[in-house]
Amino acid sequence: MIRATLRATALALMLGLAAAAGAKETGRKAADPNEKCLDCHAEAEPGDKSAAGKPVKVEPESFLKSMHGQAKVACVECHADEGVRKYPHKSPQPAQCSSCHETAVKDYAATAHGMARKGGNGVAATCSNCHGTHDIKPAADEASLVNRAHIESTCAACHGSEALVKQGKMPGGNVAALYHDSIHGRLLRSEGKAKDRVPVCTDCHGSHDMRPKKDPESAVSRANIPDTCGTCHAKVKKVWAGGQHGKMRASHVMTAPGCTDCHGAHTISDPKAPQWQVAVIRECGGCHTDYIKTYRDTYHGQVTDLGFTVVATCASCHGAHDMLPKSNPLSKVSDERILSTCQACHPKANANFVKFQPHANKHSKESGLILYYTTKFMQILLAGVFAFFGLHTVLWLYRGLAEVRRRRGEVNQEKH
Ligand code: HEC
Ligand code: HEC
Ligand code: HEC
Ligand code: HEC
Ligand code: HEC
Ligand code: HEC
Ligand code: HEC
Ligand code: HEC
Ligand code: HEC
Ligand code: HEC
Ligand code: HEC
Repeated sequence: MIRATLRATALALMLGLAAAAGAKETGRKAADPNEKCLDCHAEAEPGDKSAAGKPVKVEPESFLKSMHGQAKVACVECHADEGVRKYPHKSPQPAQCSSCHETAVKDYAATAHGMARKGGNGVAATCSNCHGTHDIKPAADEASLVNRAHIESTCAACHGSEALVKQGKMPGGNVAALYHDSIHGRLLRSEGKAKDRVPVCTDCHGSHDMRPKKDPESAVSRANIPDTCGTCHAKVKKVWAGGQHGKMRASHVMTAPGCTDCHGAHTISDPKAPQWQVAVIRECGGCHTDYIKTYRDTYHGQVTDLGFTVVATCASCHGAHDMLPKSNPLSKVSDERILSTCQACHPKANANFVKFQPHANKHSKESGLILYYTTKFMQILLAGVFAFFGLHTVLWLYRGLAEVRRRRGEVNQEKH
């Protein structure tokens, strides 16, 4: 079918499709400039493919309903190169957007995707991966690919495809699957009020200002993460900023944790979930290596190590966002506040009770000679007991084997 139309229209096309535009100027009733293109493309058969292997059928109705159809944008304004104006098309170039969306095109060039494309990464998102081609709708329209309701799936088309993640060398792997299971992702699918307020990918990353995380200007660079989360979690951010971690960050100590060191970025869990509260102890311990060692020696530390949270985690004694050095009277472990901190769980605690040292180092004399020598004694006792019984077992085994051999000998002799 398309081949027949082809021959019929080929001649007209040779004369140039610009004739339609010319008609406008001379005041004659303008023909729809898209008519010529659609004559063929509305009729295209599944076998007719573009150089990229895509079917070339264009649905006129669907295009008319798009923003560009509504705005009467001509096919040739996007497909602006000479190659498509005539048929047969000669080495057609990709559609262009810059003649009308100069800012968007310029901004895109500086995004993670724009730069990756320029660097030869053929998988990185282009305008049409995020917006579509002939069906572009305003973002506010439910049907738009960049509508809040579809952002997750639009990004997941690549960041959630194991094959494309590999092919496009996308950092972080399948981040879409992680986000999907995070508290934000789960609330997005819920029926509660939070569903309209939780972040989708572009709320944290931006869209036309999306930078790789290693770019200092990125919304998700190490320095900017607290501000990005803080746009919605302003109260928590304020508390964090007043704690030692936030204060250190304010004085550019970048080793102090921002939000994602403890919560993760795409793996954020419900902070009330016991599994998470136990897991976060390891995050604290990753930086405060000495304190986790001594904590693990205590009853609290051993019980949480088994996965239970009824006892004190690091955050129960120090706070989650407002931890401060002991010397600061506002610290939950300062002399002024320690009693009330322990009393939250040990209602009968008194001044004597809080003398207990949660970080006593039993391997160091500085934490008290009694503890040190008791620990040493217990270690020696334990080693002694093991050594004694170890030796005992070896000798017993030796003796047992000798006995077996002796009996076998006797049996053999009897046979002869
Ligand atoms: C005579 C029929 C015919 C007309 C008229 C026609 N096309 Fe095509 N077009 C085709 C066919 C067939 C293909 C499939 C690839 C090929 O054979 O070149 C195609 C392919 C294309 C492609 C894909 C190119 C690629 O490989 O990436 C674009 C874009 C395109 N046409 C745009 C247009 C536009 C815009 C117009 C109007 C100015 C137009 N075509 C007019 C028949 C036509
Ligand atoms: C808003 C810009 C825009 C307009 C207007 C537009 N196109 Fe496209 N078209 C695109 C984009 C983007 C692609 C994807 C491939 C590329 O980047 O070249 C595309 C692809 C195509 C293809 C190749 C098939 C495919 O899906 O890759 C054909 C054929 C085509 N267009 C025909 C038309 C015809 C016919 C019209 C007019 C009715 C038209 N286009 C109007 C932007 C546009
Ligand atoms: C990674 C996905 C992505 C890519 C790539 C992308 N956009 Fe967007 N674009 C969005 C999102 C999301 C919005 C709407 C929300 C917003 O304003 O942040 C948007 C909004 C727009 C808007 C309307 C708002 C405005 O700024 O005028 C236009 C026009 C636009 N994009 C054009 C483009 C063009 C042209 C390109 C390619 C040069 C492009 N976009 C590339 C995601 C993308
Ligand atoms: C000939 C000019 C022209 C070209 C070329 C063009 N557009 Fe548009 N575009 C428009 C007009 C006009 C509108 C609707 C006007 C408005 O902003 O309300 C629009 C709207 C849009 C919107 C929706 C903006 C919103 O408000 O949400 C997006 C997204 C968009 N274009 C993307 C593209 C992409 C991607 C390309 C290239 C493939 C492209 N446009 C090429 C003129 C153009
Ligand atoms: C709550 C905010 C938030 C949301 C929502 C979010 N991200 Fe992220 N994303 C981040 C932060 C923060 C980082 C930097 C992580 C880091 O430094 O380890 C990041 C990193 C990334 C990276 C780089 C991964 C790496 O480890 O280098 C990609 C790719 C990414 N995000 C894509 C996405 C996609 C796709 C979505 C939606 C499915 C999404 N993000 C949703 C905050 C978010
Ligand atoms: C067409 C496939 C595709 C789509 C769709 C896509 N991306 Fe990407 N994205 C990539 C590729 C490929 C890279 C790797 C670029 C590179 O080499 O650094 C990337 C990189 C990124 C990065 C930079 C990671 C870093 O820190 O280095 C972020 C953030 C990101 N994408 C977020 C998104 C978000 C959010 C969306 C949806 C709005 C999205 N992407 C849609 C393919 C895609
Ligand atoms: C667009 C706003 C927005 C952004 C940005 C955002 N969040 Fe959220 N977050 C929410 C909403 C809404 C909830 C649901 C609970 C609520 O209503 O406060 C939530 C829930 C949470 C929860 C669970 C809290 C609870 O009470 O169950 C944590 C933890 C969390 N976010 C951490 C983060 C971190 C870390 C970042 C930055 C990487 C971040 N959020 C970025 C809006 C946001
Ligand atoms: C040092 C680790 C750590 C850092 C850094 C951290 N959090 Fe938390 N966060 C926690 C812990 C632990 C909890 C659980 C508190 C509890 O027991 O209820 C929590 C709870 C939360 C909650 C839910 C409860 C509440 O207080 O509303 C939100 C929301 C939250 N964090 C967001 C953030 C944001 C935003 C940042 C960055 C400004 C941040 N967190 C930095 C460890 C941390
Ligand atoms: C990414 C590393 C990191 C993580 C994770 C981390 N911290 Fe810190 N923390 C620091 C740094 C750096 C300081 C500042 C040390 C200083 O003041 O010189 C600090 C300071 C503190 C202080 C104040 C005492 C002091 O030495 O200044 C306490 C208490 C504390 N952290 C407890 C915690 C707890 C509890 C957690 C887990 C909920 C945690 N930290 C997670 C790096 C970390
Ligand atoms: C039962 C309550 C309790 C628990 C649980 C606890 N701590 Fe402490 N922590 C204290 C007290 C009390 C001090 C001050 C006395 C000291 O240094 O021994 C302290 C001191 C600290 C300091 C030094 C503060 C300073 O001012 O120098 C850091 C850092 C710290 N703890 C981190 C942790 C980490 C990390 C965990 C979890 C692995 C943890 N703590 C678990 C009560 C606790
Ligand atoms: C989040 C609750 C919680 C907080 C806060 C807490 N503890 Fe505990 N602690 C427990 C639980 C539960 C047990 C085990 C049951 C018991 O013995 O009461 C325990 C056990 C202990 C034990 C061992 C008791 C024994 O019988 O062997 C000591 C010592 C102790 N806590 C001291 C403290 C001190 C000192 C503080 C304050 C710095 C403190 N705890 C803060 C919950 C907590």
